[in-house]
Amino acid sequence: MATFKQIKGFVFDLDGVITDTSLYHTKAWRQLAEKLGVAWNKDLEEGLKGISRMDSLELILKTGGKENDYSHDEKVALATEKNTNYVNEIKKMTPANILPGIKDFLDDLRDKGYLISLASASKNGPTVLKQLQLTDYFPKVVDPATLSKGKPDPEIYTKGAELLDLAPEECIGVEDAEAGIQAINAAHETSVGIGDAKTLAAADVRFDDTAQMTLANIEKAMG
Ligand code: BG6
Ligand code: MG
Repeated sequence: MATFKQIKGFVFDLDGVITDTSLYHTKAWRQLAEKLGVAWNKDLEEGLKGISRMDSLELILKTGGKENDYSHDEKVALATEKNTNYVNEIKKMTPANILPGIKDFLDDLRDKGYLISLASASKNGPTVLKQLQLTDYFPKVVDPATLSKGKPDPEIYTKGAELLDLAPEECIGVEDAEAGIQAINAAHETSVGIGDAKTLAAADVRFDDTAQMTLANIEKAMG
């Protein structure tokens, strides 16, 4: 693992790290899964975190043994239906939806001169940042439409560091999803996980919640 002194930038996931949109993604996918007759379970719920819209739909269909039941066009229509429901939820979001401690953490990073980029798989990322009034904190955003592979592939985190003109070893990636921690580790950045110890066992540093994520606590954990 890199030392804290080497770190010059932070590459952030959005959903479940900056804000609790993971609840809205879950609600919208669950609604669709149940309509398609696919039983919901916790492993499926966790597995959907961090992965792209179409990969999410494929995982739901596979879980229900329905991977061969729909044409490409039908799948696109189903994913669009989920997204419409999701977008209706995020339109109601305000800065009150920023997770505890995140605003202070971003201010601290900015004050201390750390560079910041966004590595979210979500095509709705810029809309969510706007709703939260955080757009100015993220001058560099990886466009998920440019990716050839989604998380757990390292591509999105590699691009997040490149946008900052930093080497991977100079970056910390922050994630709430297992697929995201795998992506950060494979990109040779330092991984900070937010959430459950079992799910995020591969994280270099882990906190139970966003309120614990401070530079002092990260430095303590990295040494
Ligand atoms: C990730 C979420 O950030 O973005 C996933 O964790 C979601 O749950 C993915 O499926 C894609 O989001 P969107 O908004 O492009 O459908
Ligand atoms: Mg996430």
